[in-house]
Amino acid sequence: MKLARPVFLLLLAALIVLQGTNAQKRTPVRISPRSGTEHAIDSIIAGLTLQEKIGQLVQYSGGFSTGPTGERTVMEGRRTLIRAGGIGSLFNVIGAEETHELQRIAVEESRARIPLIFGLDVIHGFKTTFPIPLAEAASWDASVAERSARISATEAASSGIHWTFAPMVDIARDARWGRVAEGAGEDPYLGSVMAAARVRGFQGTRLDDPASVVACVKHYAAYGGAEGGRDYNTVEMSEQLLRDAYLPPYKAALDAGAGTFMASFNEINGVPSSGSRFLMTKVLRDEWKFDGFVVSDWGSIGELIPHGFAADAGQAAERAINAGLDMDMESSSFHDSLATLVAQKRVSVATIDEAVRRILRIKCRLGLFTDPYHGCTAAMEKATLHHPSHVAAAREVARASIVLLKNDKNLLPLAPKTGAIGVIGPLAHNRFDALGTWAGPADSNLTVTVLEGIQEAAAGSMVMYTRGCGIDDQDTSGFQAALAVARKADVVVVVMGESGGMSGEASCRSFLGLPGNQLELLKALQDTGKPVVLVLMNGRPMAISWEAEHLPAIVEAWHLGSETGHAIADVLFGAYAPTGRLPVTFPRVTGQVPIYYAHKNTGRPSDDTQHYTSRYLDVPSTPLYPFGFGLTYTTFRYADLTVAATKLKVSDSLRVSVTVTNTGSRTGDEVVQLYVRDDVGTMTRPVRELKAYQRVHLAAGASARITLAIPVTDLAYTGMDMKKAVEPGTFTVFVGPNAQADLAGHFTVMAK
Ligand code: BGC
Repeated sequence: MKLARPVFLLLLAALIVLQGTNAQKRTPVRISPRSGTEHAIDSIIAGLTLQEKIGQLVQYSGGFSTGPTGERTVMEGRRTLIRAGGIGSLFNVIGAEETHELQRIAVEESRARIPLIFGLDVIHGFKTTFPIPLAEAASWDASVAERSARISATEAASSGIHWTFAPMVDIARDARWGRVAEGAGEDPYLGSVMAAARVRGFQGTRLDDPASVVACVKHYAAYGGAEGGRDYNTVEMSEQLLRDAYLPPYKAALDAGAGTFMASFNEINGVPSSGSRFLMTKVLRDEWKFDGFVVSDWGSIGELIPHGFAADAGQAAERAINAGLDMDMESSSFHDSLATLVAQKRVSVATIDEAVRRILRIKCRLGLFTDPYHGCTAAMEKATLHHPSHVAAAREVARASIVLLKNDKNLLPLAPKTGAIGVIGPLAHNRFDALGTWAGPADSNLTVTVLEGIQEAAAGSMVMYTRGCGIDDQDTSGFQAALAVARKADVVVVVMGESGGMSGEASCRSFLGLPGNQLELLKALQDTGKPVVLVLMNGRPMAISWEAEHLPAIVEAWHLGSETGHAIADVLFGAYAPTGRLPVTFPRVTGQVPIYYAHKNTGRPSDDTQHYTSRYLDVPSTPLYPFGFGLTYTTFRYADLTVAATKLKVSDSLRVSVTVTNTGSRTGDEVVQLYVRDDVGTMTRPVRELKAYQRVHLAAGASARITLAIPVTDLAYTGMDMKKAVEPGTFTVFVGPNAQADLAGHFTVMAK
């Protein structure tokens, strides 16, 4: 084979570097992230011992050890392993100086001199904390998610991080599951839009940009389908449902350029993801042409043993690597077993080489073979973290994530001079819980609380605060003080909900109402007769039927991060009219869960007036708040739906127009949503599916003709033969403000 001259030179350089094992001062291996990469990577692999190759497939956490010397002992062990070439990646090590020193050991003191890749869960911010991903999805605005991911990447990268374990793109239709907080909710279309936006934000236009980190799409796959909404639990679903509802966001993230994937903890249809050849090789590599690498979840290779899928660590490692899993996070199975498995010919050297190649490819795209430190310096870190422009962006992202659920008689917005405002509740002046789950690197001292936000925005009012009760206990000792504040107030803002730790990993709940005795206090406050505005902080849909029936105003604020108080005050006092829409269905009661809009119809569609239909005796079948729902400080009317062409070929586009009018007295944003139902299929179809949406900004009284267009191929689904196709036949299209949109039109997709 004849090699191009630059490739040959690169190869030569790599070989010379690798052979110089006795050199005192070792120069790092250099490969440009551009030309000749694959050949250069092959040449590096050719110079590695088997142990060094296996080392590239091993990842350990730098922290989380116990005891006074724990952390230090762990890090000493890690340094020894790095010198020996026994580790390819570290995570949970933060800081320009700390990561610099460990990287220096890798590229100067190990024989192979291959740079480490430093990972971290940068889920919704770093020092500056943005809203939890579920909240950001409520913005229904890709630019919002992209912006927060970009800033998070900039901050994390300045602190030595190359790789974030995000975006989490698991579709979640069961609100009991705590990790619903980490994703974009229940819908494959909205989930795909958000997944792609986050990847673009994290990775920027180039991975070797010092402000970029490589994304890790997780948790592959269908982790959100856990039975009973219990974390880590079994997932059983048809391959059609997997492909049509659960896989699209992973694919969208890949199409946006995501460099890595993380295998999930769960099993699907009897095979744990971390040992699934179907997921990691057939779908991801063969069908989707992914060329990056797959990392396990924390210890998930070792967990193949309790799953009953492997007898011991050796078999677990064998099954994982042969299925397509490249890097072992924390289980040590690869480290301990791969050499023996190769000697026993249970794992081939070619398989190991392929896993190493995928990992080196990503290290190379990050430019680590050119600059192992990725442009990161302590000075840059200092100048970047919590930069005022990041804080300003966090406020804008946070207010775009808020959803107004109820606003009787336009109680909101409040006038800045409202007289006396009572601010009550366990989350009203709570810096830590407002940050939400996965806020590890944040400094909660920097959180602006709701109380502080209100004090700033309502400088002309008297603001009285008392906590009233805890988040999850039965202590009523603060009730009297709370009632006293309410009685003196003209309006009461009550901030209640879940702690940051009540959602996220291993944080599932079987009861979705307000925890502890918060509802009891809320009812007592309502009894004072004062107008009560409930500001909810939570990481999942909650069952708030009493609240929805009795309170005049409800603001869904999720966990909004560092700028919580400013963002909420912006909405409460009208500096910002709410623009968010629910990315998840809110149930009336926990017993309705899982409840999601894109369900099937059944042979006896639910009809609350008919006994023998698919329903509950004690609660209506409808949700409390549907997917896509959200109010603002004005109102909109939809009219005149037209379908441009009602007979379409598969190669055509569907074009649907409606007139949207702002019927209120303030300027506002509406999110115009288009849902399609495939009326009759060779397999049954959901009652409707979101296929497009568009935001429109309208002055009071103004109208706009909005046209939404989608290619007919977007109506394809996976048939009995596992092939995706559009079936000819009739379809119904709905356009409106949420998943209950009732303005409808019809069209036909023709066979030819
Ligand atoms: C979580 C992942 C996370 C990993 C590393 C696991 O327990 O499931 O989402 O990325 O830990 O922190």
